[in-house]
Amino acid sequence: MKEKEESLLEKLTKYSSSDFYPFHMPGHKRRDDLDQAGFPDPYGIDITEIDGFDNLHHADGILKDSMRRAADMYGTDRTNYLVNGSTCGILSAICGTTTAGGKILMARNSHISAYNGVILNRLFPEYVYPEYAETLGISGSVRAEAVEDALKADKRIQAVFLTSPTYEGVVSDVRQIAAIAHRHGVPLIVDEAHGAHLPFAPDDGYFPASAISCGADIVIQSLHKTLPAFTQTAVLHISGTLVDHEKVERYLKMFQSSSPSYVFMAGIERCLRYMDKEGREEMKRYEDRLRAFYANVRDLTILRVFDREIMDGSDIFGWDPSKIIISTKRAGDLNGNGLAARLRETYHLEIEMAASDHVIALTSLKDTDEGFARLEKALHLIDKEVCGRSDGESKDAARILTPGCCLAKSDRICTPAEALDAQGVRAPLESATGMVSKEFVYVYPPGIPVLVPGEKIGVQAAEFIEKSTAAGLSVQGLSDRNLSTILTVAQ
Ligand SMILES: Cc1ncc(COP(=O)(O)O)c(C=O)c1O
Repeated sequence: MKEKEESLLEKLTKYSSSDFYPFHMPGHKRRDDLDQAGFPDPYGIDITEIDGFDNLHHADGILKDSMRRAADMYGTDRTNYLVNGSTCGILSAICGTTTAGGKILMARNSHISAYNGVILNRLFPEYVYPEYAETLGISGSVRAEAVEDALKADKRIQAVFLTSPTYEGVVSDVRQIAAIAHRHGVPLIVDEAHGAHLPFAPDDGYFPASAISCGADIVIQSLHKTLPAFTQTAVLHISGTLVDHEKVERYLKMFQSSSPSYVFMAGIERCLRYMDKEGREEMKRYEDRLRAFYANVRDLTILRVFDREIMDGSDIFGWDPSKIIISTKRAGDLNGNGLAARLRETYHLEIEMAASDHVIALTSLKDTDEGFARLEKALHLIDKEVCGRSDGESKDAARILTPGCCLAKSDRICTPAEALDAQGVRAPLESATGMVSKEFVYVYPPGIPVLVPGEKIGVQAAEFIEKSTAAGLSVQGLSDRNLSTILTVAQ
């Protein structure tokens, strides 16, 4: 390595002292104010499994007690600490509730990690399609009736998997879906990666209920996304008798590092202790900040910040207001990526995610009044500026393409694992329609595939790639970095 080139550490340190404000993960918002003492020097507490400090993979001492206390706090049977993000929890939950080659019912708008779990256990995925919330251009909730119909139609389904809340904060009726799954004797796994704050929210209905209290059997939460905890830290909760706890935990041993970081584990425990006390009070203040923010941006004329009216139609059962969705649909040539760039370059506000016609600002209880005020002000100034250029008309549907509208019923020819094992042929994307994909196609974030290995390549996939790239979004999954060819299954 050349010494003169800026190191990662130098770059991070410089960035941390800049005035850039994070409307993205992690939920600690680059501040440590959980207690007076502050988090200690990470080197001083970075140990391995020495005497007296237990072992996450055979917890029998301080870690076992810590996870037991966490389970008591959440009201679950077991709570497991995860140091490899929700990803390792999702892989373990899927493999631990199914048999190799078995069947799972999953929401088609699942994160890529769920598809990877399907591949690892060579599962046959049956899909349940979320509603499509057209005015927003995002996936809506999964309907309980759709889950019921799928479970009635196929008795071989071993588990149900869905994401709630989604990246956009959309929640499904987990209580009803859990009851349906249980009537059919199968467990419900909820990817609540984006909802770790929900169990600590005030009980006034502003935030939706956590899947834990709605009866889900396994709930996986990324602490790092919405709570003050280090990146990679997460928890997996198990409740009830439909899940073989030991089997899920056996997979956790496989998918987690054999050297789990004590810095991370101490960070998890510290975060949970804080959330159970001061955090609950802070969540109330956070709710007030969110309510004030949404009220103050109601007067935008071109940009539009969605608020609770998002739940007015039948597509969205519930919504988590911590995800601020700012629509650029009426903003003429300013698309989601353009708005994110404008916020970054002019206002030093870094946004979590840009889609073709909206951006998502992720907030947490650690966001400050100043942070919200900066976003509010920037949106008003940009709105005023765009107002002169745009006629305020919504862009026609052809210009807008989001993963939500591309999750049309897939034409599946073989399982994802079979497609990966099959011989591959590379084909130009424009002539690949009708062929069977060996690759995923998704924009990251949010990491929801519009095309899954084993599915027929539809016109929409090619169009999605073209339009997403044109909108400046990061299309991933294809091995051809030029995005001009795709690996297909040889006939
Ligand atoms: C819906 C969803 N589930 C799971 C994950 C994976 O979470 P983690 O990054 O904690 O592994 C993500 C990551 O963004 C996600 O958006």
